[in-house]
Amino acid sequence: MALMNSLLTLDHLSVAYGEIHALRDVSLEIPSGSIVALIGANGAGKSSLLKAIAGAVSYEGKIIYDGKIMPHAEPQKIATCGISLVPEGRSIFNNLTVLENLKLGSWNHPETYQEDLQRVYQFFPRLQEREQQMAGTLSGGEQQMLTMGRALMTRARLLLLDEPSMGLAPILVREIFSIIGNINKAGVTIFLIEQNATMALRIANQAHLIELGKITLSGTGEELLVNEKVREGYLGGKN
Ligand SMILES: Nc1ncnc2c1ncn2[C@@H]1O[C@H](COP(=O)(O)OP(=O)(O)OP(=O)(O)O)[C@@H](O)[C@H]1O
Ligand SMILES: [Mg+2]
Repeated sequence: MALMNSLLTLDHLSVAYGEIHALRDVSLEIPSGSIVALIGANGAGKSSLLKAIAGAVSYEGKIIYDGKIMPHAEPQKIATCGISLVPEGRSIFNNLTVLENLKLGSWNHPETYQEDLQRVYQFFPRLQEREQQMAGTLSGGEQQMLTMGRALMTRARLLLLDEPSMGLAPILVREIFSIIGNINKAGVTIFLIEQNATMALRIANQAHLIELGKITLSGTGEELLVNEKVREGYLGGKN
């Protein structure tokens, strides 16, 4: 990957929930056009980091996006700037159809709805086949695709993916990761959180390990893949 400008810079970010310090002094950069992976154990602070970026939790420190300091904890404004969070679990509306769920993603720019929908269907042909199906009856993997598709409908430039492979069979994990690669090739910058790290490190340009709220190791995806500590603690042989 050529050297690129930073699209997102986290500058000494800390998040606490009362007495619990979930993130301590995290600084990192996400270059424009890259895939950056963050790996770490349960409770290490991964989701808290994504939530801080998306404005869903309060934090100390600065978040700089596209050269501007982001408003503090204002999810709506942050979404309009082109940052879209795909949260842990599948946050779809079960009683709406696939198409209706996707339409919700274009709330702030209905004028490009058709164009955006066709783009999402290119990444996820299966969603097009099932556009009239109630979202709650989709399989787990399809629900994950729908959650990602809806995030793309927002015209995100930066996609924050919180454990997209969670609970999926290996074959679907590979499919989801291959789609993530395609989305990135189409120009979307990706910040990817994964607990099971092999696939994430394989596609990541840069990667970080988080332990107890602190970044303890950074490098290219390949460097982390061969790192002794990562191999012992985080490449559990799944996928
Ligand atoms: N709303 C909250 N109130 C209190 N504590 C919280 C809250 N959200 C998270 N925490 C705590 O903060 C720490 C970090 O949680 P976080 O969800 O960021 O971890 P994670 O790395 O995403 O873990 P996992 O891999 O299990 O999803 C944990 O100890 C968690 O219990
Ligand atoms: Mg989490």
